[in-house]
Amino acid sequence: MSDKELPKIGLGTWMLKPQAARFSTIEAIKMGYRFVDTAQSYGNEKGVGKGLYEVLNGGIVKRDELIIATKVHPLRVKPKFAYKSTLKSIEKLKLDYIDIIYIHWPAFALGYSHENTLGSLSKLVDDGKVKHIGISNFTAKQTEAAIKACDKPIYANQVEHHPYLQQTELLKSLNEKNVNFISYSPLGRGKALKDPIIIDIAKRNKVSSAQVCLAWVISKGAYPIPKATSLDHIKDNYASLELTLSQEDLEKIDEITRIERYVHPPVVAPKEWKKRFQNKELI
Ligand SMILES: NC(=O)c1ccc[n+]([C@@H]2O[C@H](COP(=O)([O-])OP(=O)(O)OC[C@H]3O[C@@H](n4cnc5c(N)ncnc54)[C@H](OP(=O)(O)O)[C@@H]3O)[C@@H](O)[C@H]2O)c1
Repeated sequence: MSDKELPKIGLGTWMLKPQAARFSTIEAIKMGYRFVDTAQSYGNEKGVGKGLYEVLNGGIVKRDELIIATKVHPLRVKPKFAYKSTLKSIEKLKLDYIDIIYIHWPAFALGYSHENTLGSLSKLVDDGKVKHIGISNFTAKQTEAAIKACDKPIYANQVEHHPYLQQTELLKSLNEKNVNFISYSPLGRGKALKDPIIIDIAKRNKVSSAQVCLAWVISKGAYPIPKATSLDHIKDNYASLELTLSQEDLEKIDEITRIERYVHPPVVAPKEWKKRFQNKELI
């Protein structure tokens, strides 16, 4: 299992109510998606779990073909809670194990510690409850510290990544460390779809703006997890796997200078983000 390839695209589920999460999970898996992303804080693990139960029991897919990921709530990052809440997530997802458990935010102010919190996740791996340990919203420096502190590999860092937040340095750094780069909000929460450069490329290639954003993300060796509610959007996003953009089009997106970070909650987000934004540095 540990050598199983990560699917090139996954389904995001933030903001989906449980019933909608069940629907999107079922439809996405029927269509060919094999990677589903949720989190304790999304309040929809039970909905995703109902969807998974239906596709697994209905013989549509086998458990070992799927990558199911969830994240430890920032209020549960103390080691005992991280351990227990992950077991609870597995129960809600109606699974025997999960593939990736992420630390959702480097919430030091709420009790996160590289050694102790990751140590509790390592025990979940030893207990056969988790395949891989992931981190999310960690800077390059924090990733390095996590790698040093954990006796298991850090499998992935899930961060915001789209044409308005190109994350060039972090991409390079994770690549060097052999940590998978998972792109969240790959459509810029829908905002990047209205960008004139993206629209122009979409028109010329006769595809949607969403497909252009996703093909650009994939071209960087990153794994996008777009969230979609309707069948049309789920389908449209999956079709990005068929799209290869020309070098010229990829460069046009690389050259977009607008910088936006859409997800930066107080208390838990790395302080470095704000400082670097004030300096107008690219991150
Ligand atoms: N680790 C973290 O801290 C973190 C933070 C944010 C997100 N995430 C993960 O990343 C996932 C994706 O990010 P996101 O939900 O913030 O934003 P996103 O995927 O960039 O954008 C979602 C928005 O785009 C729309 N959309 C999706 N496909 C479309 C298409 N083909 N054409 C037109 N519009 C389309 C969706 O509408 P409909 O819903 O109507 O389809 C929704 O409004 C989340 O769901 C979550 O799993 C993780």
